[in-house]
Amino acid sequence: MKIDILTLFPNMFEGIFRESIIKRAIANQKVEINLINFRDFSSLNNQQVDDTPYGGGAGMVLRCEPLIAALESVKTKDSLVILLTPQGKTYNQQMAQSLTKQKHLILICGHYEGFDERILNFVDQEISIGDFVLTGGEIAAAAIVDSVVRLVDEVINAESANNDSFSNNLLDYPTYTKPRVFRGLEVPEVLLSGNHEKINKWRQEKQIEITKQKRPDLLKGENK
Ligand code: ADE
Repeated sequence: MKIDILTLFPNMFEGIFRESIIKRAIANQKVEINLINFRDFSSLNNQQVDDTPYGGGAGMVLRCEPLIAALESVKTKDSLVILLTPQGKTYNQQMAQSLTKQKHLILICGHYEGFDERILNFVDQEISIGDFVLTGGEIAAAAIVDSVVRLVDEVINAESANNDSFSNNLLDYPTYTKPRVFRGLEVPEVLLSGNHEKINKWRQEKQIEITKQKRPDLLKGENK
């Protein structure tokens, strides 16, 4: 899978892509990630990427020209173009599972007060990572890359990915490790029993119980 990120702040991604699972996925060539600064595509003198809004008002608006020039430099017939914006569809695990099947993702990070509305004519999807406003799309793009790359084949072990929270509209079951007793808190007896049938049954029951308790909206399908 190839992911191109169009951004004015490529350095914001450096730490995230140089650690842990994403770093390993890049090193093992499971994913190629390119950071493209669309300021480099501005034809204006001082590489300006924004301008004042028509009709007046506060703030600056991202111009079409540098962003679309950058987009067209990387886009192919296999590309899915996603704009990160608080106005997009709210991201979830199902969307991550669908994006992981794509050959080429192009993620566009907006900034400033907004972008020229005509940019929407060049994108396939608008995605938001939640009902709050970030200073730009970078953190949203990083969240999407992280959640998609971990689902790419052989990046993490398949069993972990299949058992993820949200995979079947349920939260994950609780897990424990050594010691058996920590400050008087004991590991549930069933997990020490060695009886895998019983353990699986307990885990399934816990998934339902915890989802009912913490995220009843998932059981009712209200999160879609
Ligand atoms: N840009 C600013 N806020 C955002 C959000 N919540 N999701 C995606 N992109 C954004």
